[in-house]
Amino acid sequence: MTTTFAPEVASRTEGLYERVSHIVTEVEWRLYAPYIAAILDLKERRNAQILAHHYQTPEIYHCVADVVGDSLALAQTAAASEADVLVMCGVHFMAETAKLLNPEKIVLLPSLEAGCSLAESITAADVRGLRERHPGVPVVTYVNTSADVKAESDVCCTSANAVRVVESLGVPRVIFLPDEYLAHYVATKTSVEIISWKGHCEVHERFTARDIASIREGHPGTTVLAHPECPPDVLQAADFVGSTTAMIGYVAEQRPSSVAMVTECSMSDNVAARFPEIAFVRPCNLCPHMKRITLPGIQATLENLSPRIEIPQQIAARARRAVERMVAIGRA
Ligand code: 13P
Ligand code: SF4
Repeated sequence: MTTTFAPEVASRTEGLYERVSHIVTEVEWRLYAPYIAAILDLKERRNAQILAHHYQTPEIYHCVADVVGDSLALAQTAAASEADVLVMCGVHFMAETAKLLNPEKIVLLPSLEAGCSLAESITAADVRGLRERHPGVPVVTYVNTSADVKAESDVCCTSANAVRVVESLGVPRVIFLPDEYLAHYVATKTSVEIISWKGHCEVHERFTARDIASIREGHPGTTVLAHPECPPDVLQAADFVGSTTAMIGYVAEQRPSSVAMVTECSMSDNVAARFPEIAFVRPCNLCPHMKRITLPGIQATLENLSPRIEIPQQIAARARRAVERMVAIGRA
């Protein structure tokens, strides 16, 4: 590293560039380092904890986050946190989940525009309609939903524990919403009948089986990992299907020489920084919502303690039950 920083920036960021030098250029680092130093300083002053999803960019993921994880890990961490302030580097439903589990804490989301197409695909009224059409059938709701939708649900799940949550209910049929492809994947893994909804992830629905065939043609021997929000033919063509954390676990254990992660782009960058000896084929799609979280945004949210996540009490009490039930069931 040839750049000379102001002494306070240099001491705050000492040793951090090495974590990302595989994927972040020195020119980029010159821009990032002053923000990183300011964020680390503010984090201490606010007794804040920064939680980052695997889809966050490497300078956030490797240099300012205290905890990184999939949706389930972020919820589990939020439930056990001793910080006064939680900053969610992820999307709105993740911040709401953290707030549900920590009603007394300040929960910050650096951009309120960080949404999710799955969360947008269903409303609380839709869930009530489904219950009317299927009386007595329990509702299992993916965490990628609003607190209003969670409040109408029996239990939440993530892609890391969906099958386990469905089977925990001990019933022959469940309503599983809103992700149609995740519902389809769960149905292939259980004898419980799954009634699904037509929600899709705008990032994962764009992958095709043709993309997987091209990876295999262009990079023979590559291991293909896919997120269960992808369409069924994509999952069929993959070597392994799992949540973001499960995909990382696969790479860490199996150490394939070449891997393709069929998911959001930053995932490969973040994992590549940890495993520089593995070749990453990148058939990725960007999640525009995740990309709304930036270093300047994180600094501003910690300075202003805003924007905060607030959930009306009557909704929060019912939504919390569904999330707490999921956290108690844990990972598969
Ligand atoms: P994970 O729970 O696997 O991290 O997935 C969250 C998500 O939003 C995937 O698009
Ligand atoms: Fe939502 Fe898809 Fe983005 Fe995940 S990747 S936050 S499911 S839009």
